[in-house]
Amino acid sequence: MIEYEGDKAKVYSDRGTGDIFGDVLSRRINRRSAIKSGVAASAIVFGAVNLSDAVAQDATPAASPVSGGPAPAFDAIPESEAAEMTVAEGYTAKAFLRWGDPLFADAPAFDVTAQSAASQAKQFGYNCDFVGFIPLPLGSDSSDHGLMVVNHEYTNPELMFSGYLVKNPEYVEGSEDIAEFVPATTKEIVDTELEAHGVTVVEIQRDADGAWAVVLDSEYNRRVTATTPTLLTGAAAGHELLKTSEDATGTNVTGTLNNCAGGITPWGTFVSGEENFQQYFANLEAVADGPVKVNHARYGLAEGATERQWELFHPRFDLGQEPNEPLRHGWAIEIDPFDPTSTPKKRTALGRNKHEGHTSVVGTNGNVVIYSGDDERFDYAYKFVTSGTYSATDRAANLDLLDEGTLYVAKFNDDGSGEWLPLIFGEGQLTAENGFDSQGAVLVNTRLAADLLGATKMDRPEDFETNPVTGTVYLVCTNNSNRGAEGKAAADPMNPRDENLNGHIIEIVETAGDHAATTFAWDIFMLCGDPADESTYFAGYPKEMVSGISSPDNITFDLAGNLWISTDGMPRNLPSNDGLYAVPVEGMERGNLKRFFTSVTGAEVSGPVFTPDNTSLFTSIQHPGEGGTFEAQISSWPDGDGVPRPSVVVIQAIDGSRIGA
Ligand code: FEO
Ligand code: CA
Ligand code: CA
Repeated sequence: MIEYEGDKAKVYSDRGTGDIFGDVLSRRINRRSAIKSGVAASAIVFGAVNLSDAVAQDATPAASPVSGGPAPAFDAIPESEAAEMTVAEGYTAKAFLRWGDPLFADAPAFDVTAQSAASQAKQFGYNCDFVGFIPLPLGSDSSDHGLMVVNHEYTNPELMFSGYLVKNPEYVEGSEDIAEFVPATTKEIVDTELEAHGVTVVEIQRDADGAWAVVLDSEYNRRVTATTPTLLTGAAAGHELLKTSEDATGTNVTGTLNNCAGGITPWGTFVSGEENFQQYFANLEAVADGPVKVNHARYGLAEGATERQWELFHPRFDLGQEPNEPLRHGWAIEIDPFDPTSTPKKRTALGRNKHEGHTSVVGTNGNVVIYSGDDERFDYAYKFVTSGTYSATDRAANLDLLDEGTLYVAKFNDDGSGEWLPLIFGEGQLTAENGFDSQGAVLVNTRLAADLLGATKMDRPEDFETNPVTGTVYLVCTNNSNRGAEGKAAADPMNPRDENLNGHIIEIVETAGDHAATTFAWDIFMLCGDPADESTYFAGYPKEMVSGISSPDNITFDLAGNLWISTDGMPRNLPSNDGLYAVPVEGMERGNLKRFFTSVTGAEVSGPVFTPDNTSLFTSIQHPGEGGTFEAQISSWPDGDGVPRPSVVVIQAIDGSRIGA
């Protein structure tokens, strides 16, 4: 039963989950030994592919049946609904890079009353999400100097621009059906929003006192935005479905949209996922019945005007004028931060969906594997395996590796086994009879192809990470309030709770420890929520000892192989702002989840990443003050007055030591 207190749903402990949950628990006890042997195999592979020596030296052998890496050494902090950040004792958290901060020596200072497309194009974008740190020089393990790459997922114009919302003349006092305020946007506002989207590449440096700063005159600093020329590459490039009136080649796309999670490749590029691109495209009703319209409906495009109203000023966002334009978004885009003049490439071979994750790892035979989630309720988990192999000595040879390979979608079996099903034109049902004329068509229609293969419908598969110590893969399912709803898929062993408000985390062990394998074993690692709720599960750790958590979103690992989790949506379910948590995944402390950090009013936490030595932890505070308006802000973080500013935060130990050690 869910009951409501004010506007917050509270899950009470009398909430039954039925036999399925009991089955999962009893089965996992039996399976744990099988998983453990897989972990041991993975650990050997980890050594074989020669990942960071630092990891190997610092980590306690993770395959030990009794002891994992040292558990994070900090005292858990309580829930917080404070206006400011809180962090565990002994640490500081500081806004490091804020929306509007100059990225170039000639960039204007942030002035909320004078933001323009031209100024925004030279400043840090809005709603930072994924954060990557690439040490400089490339290939070193520097933790003082590097390139920071950041995604800017979307804009909150109602918080950014004075006068954006105006009283709706049609509003009737007390009406719940008619909005009281409506957007009054302008081309100038829309063009500024376009430049606030995309990604940032920025060189950063830490001084002797441990303080980080942007290198303003760096040759690497760059903004890629929703107006930057990008290229479609791989099997779908040039397909009829990707041609528009502006681009008869089907390869040249203006900009990247809704960049959410991402990952760094072994060759020092980054792969950024285009997630909820559907929100930018208006007037589905203008598209003729047929495969394009079926595709748009499967990806959630809608009839009528968009809330953002970009279509008023740019025809490419109006389906009546450019019905194929959305098919040129929803891709994984690879950017080489070491070549600021390079054209970002949308790698169609990785499929088209609401991309998340993009952790890269090298398989046993040298093929590169990239895991990614499709973040939608009841959508799928994917991985891509390159045809070619990674070269540690020839960077240029890796730069187009992501154009050829096999895209797989995950099928989780009830018995704890799983299969990666290949999406290959001409195989199985992916044939002309079912409307696919080529591999390009399979990729543009990735979701529809995966539907035909019988992939497993998951609870918003978001981030994927591989544990660098054990090789075990972790998949985060953020939540799914519709699981078990009328006409929707019911709970199953992989998504074991109906009305899953709090999300869960799944462990995957690839067969023989090879990330390129086509079969795997899986297990539930954590069922999130208030530990007092009997449906929660923390890898078997005593629940009275752990911190409550809801809506896990992004994850990363520390040197000891402990998992760090950021959340997006906690206030809906627990009396706390979103935050950061750490949890051992091996040994006696496995499942001992501790809250490390809490964020600010209205914000989610995303993109956590450590420097190689783990002395700095960067994380994004996205959409602070969401729920307010420009004229009635509910947060003034981080400046203390004025508008809230989405920012990358740096967390460090006061004594400069390794975080969690
Ligand atoms: Fe942009 Fe799936 O979070
Ligand atoms: Ca996310
Ligand atoms: Ca999110």
